[in-house]
Amino acid sequence: MQHEKSPSPFSADSQPLWRLTEPSIWSLAHSDSKEDPARSILRTLWDQPRWLEAYHLYDDRGSELFERICELPEYYLTRTENSILEKNGPRMIAHAPVTCIVELGAGSAKKTTHLLRAQIERRGTGIFAPIDVSLPGLRACRDFVRQNLPKIEFHGLHARYEDGLSSIDKNLPTLFVFLGSTIGNFNPSDFVRFFSLLSAAMGPHDYFLLGADRIKAVKVLEPAYADSQGLTAQFILNLFHNINRRTGGNFDLGNMRYHSWYNPEWARIEMYAVSRAAQEIRFPSFGASFRWDKDARILVEISRKFDPVRLQEQLGFFDLIPVEHFTDPDDWFSLLLFKKMA
Ligand code: AVI
Repeated sequence: MQHEKSPSPFSADSQPLWRLTEPSIWSLAHSDSKEDPARSILRTLWDQPRWLEAYHLYDDRGSELFERICELPEYYLTRTENSILEKNGPRMIAHAPVTCIVELGAGSAKKTTHLLRAQIERRGTGIFAPIDVSLPGLRACRDFVRQNLPKIEFHGLHARYEDGLSSIDKNLPTLFVFLGSTIGNFNPSDFVRFFSLLSAAMGPHDYFLLGADRIKAVKVLEPAYADSQGLTAQFILNLFHNINRRTGGNFDLGNMRYHSWYNPEWARIEMYAVSRAAQEIRFPSFGASFRWDKDARILVEISRKFDPVRLQEQLGFFDLIPVEHFTDPDDWFSLLLFKKMA
């Protein structure tokens, strides 16, 4: 497919690295061969305690289950964040004089619509560049923007955050957006790596909007991850289907259960798979196996909860200066706007 002419969100150096693989969707011309997913699974499964990287949750079935979780009455995060964006989108955009909005892991970008509408109202036009590893997600997002927001120029980047971020033009005033409290799913080293990378990718006219779920009463937090329909349990255990598919392993979903709790010391929900009986987990193509004892746990996902003031202080060490803090009437969720230190 031919190269699209400027304007695009890419820096001059990065532009040749990308090609249009379908209308308005760019992929890296030569993506580095990534680590074999099967090996990365075995590495963390052999750790002590055993754990798994949360991105394995999002195969097609997992993504569909997560969409349904977002609609659950107990899962207050999506609707609360959406209501803050709906109410404050125009103020957020007024504070951030940008031409481009880059969203990390946009999915269907429903919530971002509030920002895009505010951008059109205030500035008449703008670029929207979501970065996502899900091609179906990017397509849905592109089609939605084309139909409903024709004044927005869409460039979908089919890539990992790190590859997409480092290609954005630092001279193009940009608002980077990371919603949904996905930051809460990062382990401590991923958290530091992510903000170091983001800060390095930002130019002197750039802003960052972060959605972060807050520390609150356990009676609100725990049901959001142990819903009455059992969707979260399906979502977490579905990961083992994905792992069997990728590694040839023999995890038996009937022989495990889901368990989650709020760990107040580390301010995080912890989501586990627990073995119902002693069993032998085998990976014949790797000549590897382990004994999974009855009641032994594998940590599948964490979901950190934040104190917004402390988070603002912490991001200061990544050269991000707080501009404004938006929240809901219950103080359940925060949208934090930062500016990159010039
Ligand atoms: C994507 N992420 C912010 C969700 C969360 O709330 O931590 C993932 C999730 N896991 C179970 N339910 C929702």
